[in-house]
Amino acid sequence: MLSWDEFDKEDTDVAAKTSSPAQAAAAATLDKLDSAGGAAALEARAATASDSDAVKRAKAALNDLDIAEGLAELEGSAARVAVDEKRMINCRADLNQLVPFKYDWAWQKYLDGCANHWMPQEVNMTADIALWKDQDGLTDDERRIVMRNLGFFSTADSLVANNLALAVYRLITNPECRQYILRQAFEEAIHTHAYQYCIESLGMDEGEIFNMYHEIPSVAKKAAWGLKYTRAISDPEFNTGTPETDKELLRNLIAYYCVLEGIFFYCGFTQILSMGRRNKMTGVAEQFQYILRDESMHLNFGIDVINQIKIENPHLWDAAMKEEATQMILQGTQLEIEYARDTMPRGVLGMNAAMMEDYLKFIANRRLTQIGLKEEYPGTTNPFPWMSEIMDLKKEKNFFETRVIEYQTGGALSWD
Ligand SMILES: [Fe+2]
Ligand SMILES: [Fe+2]
Repeated sequence: MLSWDEFDKEDTDVAAKTSSPAQAAAAATLDKLDSAGGAAALEARAATASDSDAVKRAKAALNDLDIAEGLAELEGSAARVAVDEKRMINCRADLNQLVPFKYDWAWQKYLDGCANHWMPQEVNMTADIALWKDQDGLTDDERRIVMRNLGFFSTADSLVANNLALAVYRLITNPECRQYILRQAFEEAIHTHAYQYCIESLGMDEGEIFNMYHEIPSVAKKAAWGLKYTRAISDPEFNTGTPETDKELLRNLIAYYCVLEGIFFYCGFTQILSMGRRNKMTGVAEQFQYILRDESMHLNFGIDVINQIKIENPHLWDAAMKEEATQMILQGTQLEIEYARDTMPRGVLGMNAAMMEDYLKFIANRRLTQIGLKEEYPGTTNPFPWMSEIMDLKKEKNFFETRVIEYQTGGALSWD
């Protein structure tokens, strides 16, 4: 528990030793710089005999600061933002004014994400370590599933995080969505941490796991497919604003939210959670369950963003774009089917590659209809209904209840 007492004590001591009345007045006046205007600021920054050379240089540099020029570099105009001015892409309103909200759903997802905060070290890995080290603990097929999935996911979450931070964030011109994207980026870091924590706990060859996306074709193809859609928009010179560039961003969002997070994660999640349901590798399975809960929200956020861009820019969602989006989802489904076959050459954990293929087609139908496209695998049913139950957030809340409550109160500051 943090206490402010120590901070207060330290601050008072330091202030008493170093702060002359002139310096204290200068600091106070600088705080009022914007409202008090230039004369007060200049007075506060006037060099005094007691100033060191370094302090004199700092004050002189501030005297040269052009506030108008600095503010002009901020995105958007200087006026207060009206909600009607806000847009998902190509917005001209000031992006540093979070409210008034236009997309309440984005802010709500940000709040929900924060309320669901978790860390990998909280999960007990003791039983997993014993099982993994026991020669007879798992079959070769079960070990293959653990290794392949840690190999794929340890890289995939980095790809998603990099795409968010280096490409998408800059191009989504809405502050409440950016707020969620920052939260999502941190969650992706936690996911990568979780895989690293599993790999370290189980004493695996870290080089082998983290380099699997170069070495194993079924893993490499999925990573390469995703990276293809980052290339254009992560160029610092890239900007939206034309139908072609706006479509390029839309392609990226479909690739990452609908396919990478919406399809590529599902074979692995199902396999690891099936293992947990059989009381094997329960720590790894619990980590994956937390991750799946986060990912469900990432996916839903992405779908909302894509659909909002379509509403605000209907000309982008033409026949060619619809055909392209359908093809992307079908290609992703095919790659995931290949991954299912590679990771399950035989039946294992009550499932096999053919069942997984049905499941992935069922998921693909969902992704297509979520962004307004027609089902491509009509009549497909879900062979793993328990996965839907795990993903149902209302039911899941019971499972996570204690931890969520701990987080909501555990970080409180004490004023005693
Ligand atoms: Fe993730
Ligand atoms: Fe994600």
